[in-house]
Amino acid sequence: MSLLAKHRILEKSPTLLLICSLLVVTVGGIVEIAPLFWLENTIEKVEGVRPYSPLELTGRDIYIREGCYVCHSQMIRPMRDEIERYGHYSLAAESMYDHPFQWGSKRTGPDLARVGGRYSDAWHVDHMKHPQSVVPQSIMPKYAFMMHTKIGPERINDLLATHRLVGVPYGDDHIENAEADFLSQANPDADSDGLMARYPGAAVSNFDGQVELTEMDAMIAYLQVLGTMVDFSTFTPDENR
Ligand code: HEC
Repeated sequence: MSLLAKHRILEKSPTLLLICSLLVVTVGGIVEIAPLFWLENTIEKVEGVRPYSPLELTGRDIYIREGCYVCHSQMIRPMRDEIERYGHYSLAAESMYDHPFQWGSKRTGPDLARVGGRYSDAWHVDHMKHPQSVVPQSIMPKYAFMMHTKIGPERINDLLATHRLVGVPYGDDHIENAEADFLSQANPDADSDGLMARYPGAAVSNFDGQVELTEMDAMIAYLQVLGTMVDFSTFTPDENR
């Protein structure tokens, strides 16, 4: 019997065809899904990507609270126009410690995935207080209240512990020193050796220029780290993935 004739048997019997198609789909499904149960991680690790520092994580919480993601995405797609405007396309690893992720789906304002280091802290202060003072045609709302909303490290241990619960690799060392790290990142006069060892590359600065620690400090600490963890002058994507 020719192969075509054998196939005719299948095609003429709806029940047999259904059973055989189910079988094919099942095998395909198992091949795709089963390995995920054994793989520890599907994200390629990239050098430089680290969990957020306590102050950055606090800024990120404010970002979520204020709904910045409603107007700003944090994912640069691998397309020429995006890369020319924003820089290297976003890597999965760059948001592996984001819970929840901030990719977003709306760009009323520009993508912020690589805004870190693009402007000075002082520019961010002016822009957050009164966006139209630096970008006259801006429709971004004002967030001046962040300048006088004080923050403290009272709940920072819990915040880190919560993120550890969902898989961010904060060690006991990170959690025990969370208060000190929270305070020293916004104080250039403080000893920040521990902070730098735990969070390599963290920017230490009096972000908002005021003595008091405010939401603006945390907000800017977060904005300034976005997209800066990976050194793209040395990064080469793993082509085998
Ligand atoms: C109603 C929409 C809207 C909301 C909400 C919003 N923004 Fe914006 N944002 C914009 C627009 C439009 C621009 C471009 C004009 C400008 O620079 O002000 C912008 C620009 C920016 C820039 C400069 C980006 C660049 O590459 O030049 C930053 C940083 C920024 N926003 C941060 C924030 C943060 C942080 C929040 C939340 C606290 C926020 N935005 C909320 C609309 C918004």
